[in-house]
Amino acid sequence: MIYSRIVGTGSYLPPRIVTNGDLAGKLETSDAWIQERTGIRQRHIADESQASSDLALEACRRALEAAGLTAADIDLIIVATSTPDYIFPSTACLLQAKLGVKGCAAFDLQAVCSGFVYALATADSLMKNGIYKRALVVGAEVFSRILDWNDRATAVLFGDGAGAVVLAAGDKPGVHASVLHADGSQVGILSVPGNVCGGKIVGSPFLQMHGKEVFKLAVRVLDESAREVAAAAGIRLEDVDWLIPHQANVRILEATAKRLGLPRERLVVTVDHHANTSAASVPLALDEYVRAGKIKPGHKVMLQGVGGGFTWGASLVTM
Ligand SMILES: CC(C)(COP(=O)(O)OP(=O)(O)OC[C@H]1O[C@@H](n2cnc3c(N)ncnc32)[C@H](O)[C@@H]1OP(=O)(O)O)[C@@H](O)C(=O)NCCC(=O)NCCS
Repeated sequence: MIYSRIVGTGSYLPPRIVTNGDLAGKLETSDAWIQERTGIRQRHIADESQASSDLALEACRRALEAAGLTAADIDLIIVATSTPDYIFPSTACLLQAKLGVKGCAAFDLQAVCSGFVYALATADSLMKNGIYKRALVVGAEVFSRILDWNDRATAVLFGDGAGAVVLAAGDKPGVHASVLHADGSQVGILSVPGNVCGGKIVGSPFLQMHGKEVFKLAVRVLDESAREVAAAAGIRLEDVDWLIPHQANVRILEATAKRLGLPRERLVVTVDHHANTSAASVPLALDEYVRAGKIKPGHKVMLQGVGGGFTWGASLVTM
């Protein structure tokens, strides 16, 4: 049996930090409101010169270094993003060129804030079939570009960043199981309902959200997918060392851990200083905890995505 295993993690945050106080100077909001409702204190925002592929490049360099590999060792690149550099080619192809390699498979995957988990499950399947041996799985976003900075209900929630893992094929798990789901009928509660046609924007280029409905749905599906993936992996929830739900809102994260009966100490929280970085949030959080020495080799980690689509999913991995 072939399994895939995470052998290196990396992440990158653009240097510019925007605090709640900075936003309160421009919007009718306050640090106290944002912290109380979301747990967010600050977010990183990319310069105009930085695209998703630039953020992804730095995250991948760090993940490759941690794995003791070079880009030439990689035979598959999947980038999860909803904020690609171009309509085409894919951000994965642009990233491949920036990594200075050619020939390996490279494609983008779009599942919004579930993107990284979808990409991990996809790479794992391709590797289990023996098709690929070493993959870069990346989440990279510049959500700051699709926010209406005059809309306090959404502008305060998101940030930019990238996270990456190197997956290697081997005879031990690794990724035990993944579950993926979607409900396209929920398109109206979270979307950027726009497109480009004949050189003009048709619809809206900005993120729109019904916060309360997203909140309720997120807590429900995070609970369900955690139980489903644990059962599929044959691992008891109480044996999970770390829970990394998509970093949307600290209240969503805490509600999920509580419903699952997992103690707060096993819940990974980075949303306070990264905000919601969509597809980048899970690998960013994973890398931060790995580098801090909290997540160690042998630990069982549950990774969970939830977001626009609506999409959701989970993977259970041994590091
Ligand atoms: C967005 C969210 C923080 C809003 O919190 P909430 O408790 O549901 O708040 P409401 O939307 O009911 O708004 C309450 C009030 O705060 C106001 N408000 C909204 N954003 C505000 C802000 N940034 N600052 C101050 N007040 C704000 C609203 O206008 C509303 O005022 P009103 O009562 O006078 O109408 C919360 O619903 C949430 O986190 N939802 C999930 C969002 C998410 O994670 N999305 C991504 C998923 S991938």
